[in-house]
Amino acid sequence: MKIGILTGGGDCPGLNPVIRAVVRTALREGFQMIGIQNGWKGLVDNETKPLDLSAVSGILHRGGTILGTSRTNPYKDKALLDKVRANYRTLGLDALIAIGGEDTLGVAARLFQEGFKVVGVPKTIDNDLSGTDFTFGFDTAVNIAMEAIDRLHTTAESHRRIMVVEVMGRHAGWIALYSGLAGGADLILIPETPIKMEEVTAVIRKRLERGKNFSIIVVAEGAKFDGAEAVLGTKLDEFGHVRLGGIGEMLANKIEETTGFETRVTVLGHIQRGGSATAFDRVLGTRFGAKAVELVKNGQFGQMAALKGNEITAIPIEAGTGKLKTVDPAFYEMARKFFG
Ligand code: F6P
Repeated sequence: MKIGILTGGGDCPGLNPVIRAVVRTALREGFQMIGIQNGWKGLVDNETKPLDLSAVSGILHRGGTILGTSRTNPYKDKALLDKVRANYRTLGLDALIAIGGEDTLGVAARLFQEGFKVVGVPKTIDNDLSGTDFTFGFDTAVNIAMEAIDRLHTTAESHRRIMVVEVMGRHAGWIALYSGLAGGADLILIPETPIKMEEVTAVIRKRLERGKNFSIIVVAEGAKFDGAEAVLGTKLDEFGHVRLGGIGEMLANKIEETTGFETRVTVLGHIQRGGSATAFDRVLGTRFGAKAVELVKNGQFGQMAALKGNEITAIPIEAGTGKLKTVDPAFYEMARKFFG
């Protein structure tokens, strides 16, 4: 059996552990592995490379993806889609393993509906795919953000400042919630709950009353003032996403205006997507990769690996991509107990 593998969408630590696990378990089954480079773009342009044991040697600890990635959407242009269909056949693929988030796996689900034998592996630092308790990349991003928050405490205290930390999380505030709780943030703002300045100033005032003349506020890049996201320009990517950015600056300016406190902003950005994966993400990625090969071997196409509790299972790809997994209101309410 000849299996293709691709990584699409935003990269993250953990991708190479998945690729390594897929290749090593597939080769043990006597399958042949073809790496498709740069996400769906590689299938459009027939950019591939064979994957053998040496190709995946020494990549377990490496961030990013040895295959490269892109945000190419073949369903945006019939000519691209025709090339994908043709190259899938020209390459003689018996199956394709797509590693990605809502966009990449959304394409995989549509190809499956057309009759292509596709299996998915959920990937995103945002942890916003339904049907799986966690996606790999998320734990690493949270730890990177937590370490930054720990560092920001000392400078905030020394200068008696409000430090606003902007973290990634396009539509869901999982990174903000987890890193804020782990880092002891005094306020956590997520896309799921609109920012109310009175709540922000109340937290700062409450801390001042107990002698704390500094605060750490974690805000997700997708958080909104009066329903409006902070965006950088109007350009959309091929899946219709705007580039988010600026909410941290907006919030900091409003805080300074309202409270008079010196306020500074740290935007963690793509640092959250770089470097080596945590042990949790390496193990989860390895388990997901092995599951993907099992699904191919058993002919369970249109399915994606998923984590339920501590079990690796499989769900229909649409079940993972149809509706984003946003922060549970009860979880956020619990976090509120630690604000201020
Ligand atoms: O989807 C993961 C993610 O990191 C989001 O959190 C972020 O908004 C987006 O990707 C950034 O996309 P890009 O790397 O294309 O700028």
